[in-house]
Amino acid sequence: MRTESPTLIRLEDYRPSDHLIDTVELDVRLHPRETRIVATLALRPNPDGRSDAPLLLDGDDLTLTRLSLDGEILDPAAYSATASALTVHEPPRQPFTLTIETRVDPTANTKLMGLYRSSGVYCTQCEADGFRRITYFLDRPDVMSVYTTRIEADADEAPVLLGNGNLTEAGPAGQGRHYAIWHDPHPKPAYLFALVGGRLDRVSRPFTTMEGRPASLAVYVEPGKSDRAAYALDAIARSMTWDEEAFGRAYDLDVFNVVAVSDFNMGAMENKGLNIFNDKYVLASPDTATDADYAAIERIIAHEYFHNWSGNRVTCRDWFQLCLKEGLTVFRDQEFSSDMRSRAVHRIGEVRTLRARQFPEDAGPLAHPVRPRAYAEINNFYTATVYEKGAEIVRMLRSLIGAAAFRAGMDRYFADNDGRAATVEDFLAAFSAETGRDLSDFARWYERPGTPVVSVEGDYDAAARTYCLRFRQRLAGAEDSPPLVIPIALGLVGEGGPIAAACERVGEGVFVLDRACDEIVFSGVDERPVPSLLRGFSAPVRIEMASSDADRLRLLARDTDSFNRWQAAQSVAMRLIVERTRADAPPAEDAGPDARAFVEALATFLDAEALSDPAFAALVLGLPSEGDVANEIGGDVDPDAIHRARRTLRRQIGQGLGRRLDSLHAAMTDATGVAFSPDAASAGRRALRNAALDLIAAADEVRGGELAATQFAEAATMTDRLAALSTLAAIPGEAREAALHAFGVRYADEPLVLDKWFALQAMIPEDGTISRVAALQGHPAFAITNPNRVRALLGTFAMANPTQFARPDGAGFRLMADAIRTIDGTNPQLAARLLTAFGSWKMLESGRRTQATVTLGEFASAGGLSRDVADILGRTLE
Ligand code: ARG
Ligand code: ZN
Repeated sequence: MRTESPTLIRLEDYRPSDHLIDTVELDVRLHPRETRIVATLALRPNPDGRSDAPLLLDGDDLTLTRLSLDGEILDPAAYSATASALTVHEPPRQPFTLTIETRVDPTANTKLMGLYRSSGVYCTQCEADGFRRITYFLDRPDVMSVYTTRIEADADEAPVLLGNGNLTEAGPAGQGRHYAIWHDPHPKPAYLFALVGGRLDRVSRPFTTMEGRPASLAVYVEPGKSDRAAYALDAIARSMTWDEEAFGRAYDLDVFNVVAVSDFNMGAMENKGLNIFNDKYVLASPDTATDADYAAIERIIAHEYFHNWSGNRVTCRDWFQLCLKEGLTVFRDQEFSSDMRSRAVHRIGEVRTLRARQFPEDAGPLAHPVRPRAYAEINNFYTATVYEKGAEIVRMLRSLIGAAAFRAGMDRYFADNDGRAATVEDFLAAFSAETGRDLSDFARWYERPGTPVVSVEGDYDAAARTYCLRFRQRLAGAEDSPPLVIPIALGLVGEGGPIAAACERVGEGVFVLDRACDEIVFSGVDERPVPSLLRGFSAPVRIEMASSDADRLRLLARDTDSFNRWQAAQSVAMRLIVERTRADAPPAEDAGPDARAFVEALATFLDAEALSDPAFAALVLGLPSEGDVANEIGGDVDPDAIHRARRTLRRQIGQGLGRRLDSLHAAMTDATGVAFSPDAASAGRRALRNAALDLIAAADEVRGGELAATQFAEAATMTDRLAALSTLAAIPGEAREAALHAFGVRYADEPLVLDKWFALQAMIPEDGTISRVAALQGHPAFAITNPNRVRALLGTFAMANPTQFARPDGAGFRLMADAIRTIDGTNPQLAARLLTAFGSWKMLESGRRTQATVTLGEFASAGGLSRDVADILGRTLE
């Protein structure tokens, strides 16, 4: 059985809906196997649509049990219904009411799209097109309606009943059942619909908006877990205050509810007034959550809340505009986190994510523009490109027009598009109107896939006291297209620090490269400077410039831009690793002069600054990941060589820094009795402590192993415990197995903590990992139907263990292919997401490449694949 190549939906084919739906009344009677939904839709022809068109409603896996039009049962000849469509052949030419009764089985819904049950809790996920799995509908974001939802359920099974908007009525419904009616006054597309029914505990707090509107904020979690919801609840309030201050946006309903569920395909979902979350991004306690978990909870709570304006009040006309809400909302959550934490540290984290996830996507077969022009399965386009690169475009826009004009443009965008389904053009139009600038050149960022390369040459003329920088941009595949508009924040750094030199092309520290080639000249430069380019990572590009380690290390020591200070250390480390990867001979034990100079620079930096900014110091000590190195090399990649080279450099750094690391490890250890706080400063101390521990172990496995074992036993936080375990996991032997065992026993009843344990084992860069992962698939806590478990064990293996996933014998590829095939049978979205791990196969050296093609070829020829998986597979093999 071959899998059909799926049909493409194209942006250029967009046309408005022929019908509109003004109001939706839903009557949902929850039942584990037979939930009955009665949808009453107030329809009318769309003046912008075709007047004689049939009414064509989307469905997916639906059973129609009854259909009436304006109160009369519809003659079967007047319509046709299948599981995936309901067509009324000749609908009235004036407003009419359609009443549709469907039945669905929430328990059998393993796709986790539409209405399903997660640990006995009824919940929904409708983005992108899950609403059509509940009732027949015009399931497209430009059809916006006012919803009233009556939910009825067994009072014992589902004492809590939640919907969008405000609660208007609730009470008993006889025979042990009860009901609640929710009304959402804000028109919305179907993808923002949600309901929840279940046994849940609640924590709440009041909030008053800047407009004086009182709102009750609440977080709902599994019974017994409400003590882990406080941080999320607090993050909601902080997000609301921040959006008022930073963007003038206030909340607009009486309640804001967040519900944590344990089976969820993604992070969270911004349903109007009823955000539904993967519980991983809600639940936190010092004993179960790491600092990274706290930061992620804060960020995702903010992200979903910010969607209330960027996504809900102003939504997307069609799914090609996904970046309009996602890129913008990521930008907004990044700004929020930067304000809550350290801006410099946060920016480095954002760029690391972008480079680790988006750059490889952009360089491989799954590359696509931030605004794609065609898709077979929209759920496969919730990508790093749409989200993270989309956010970078918004950031560049701000640096081009300045913060004040940016804010004014945002205000205008919200005002002009409130209650509308908008496009990227509408977004840019607001800024053009505000600044009088034509942004059509800038808009090319939305259309071009690939990471642009900016190559730079510098020329110092001592006699003329000038410094010239020559820029050239190029983008593979777009050689004949007009150039991009690239804001490059830059400055010059001398031996003693930044040089104040004049250049009229650089305003506010930013040079705008909007031609294929350009050059700028600084005057009054009294010494040979080192240019600090792309400060703050002002554009999502790669910079190519020949420069010496000494120049880079000058930036580490002297630049004022934290990002470029970090980048300088990364670039030196990258060069050293890449060079060692290419060397045919095994790397010498002696570090060599280059590595010694690097280590010395690190030592000087640590002595001067580690104690004053531990979070930043921890980042400087972190080497580029194996994936980063592979991306840098770009072709004929041998993951084993990269692993060895990186390990060697880590050992040399650890040995070179020596006792300094022990002092740091000790200095960053809190005295006993210090209360845990997840704030950024405390987290920074833990980050540096654990970076030191890891380097100590890299230098000396025995001593590092002992130190890690002690820390593991005595740890007061999950961050320290897990970091110790992760250091131990890199050292084969009994101590490791004992610690892993102890951790597994201690957290046997904590699935979210066991996910860390699954992930950590999946990352071990050793031959034995393949059988370890296979065995863990049989662990009682593992469930192939739970996305968090699957991502922790299998996702981590495929995405974060390059030597074992891409084993030369192909066993890693086969393990994943087998698992993906199984998962595709229950949850295609999850399967498709895992399959993207093969997206970098073309970068591998030929032996591994052959293994990948064989595995993918077998996978394809077996057939019977979901549309989600077939789409990714087809593009991966293209
Ligand atoms: N809109 C959600 C968010 O905030 C994600 C939804 C993802 N949906 C999907 N079908 N993949 O980011
Ligand atoms: Zn989002």
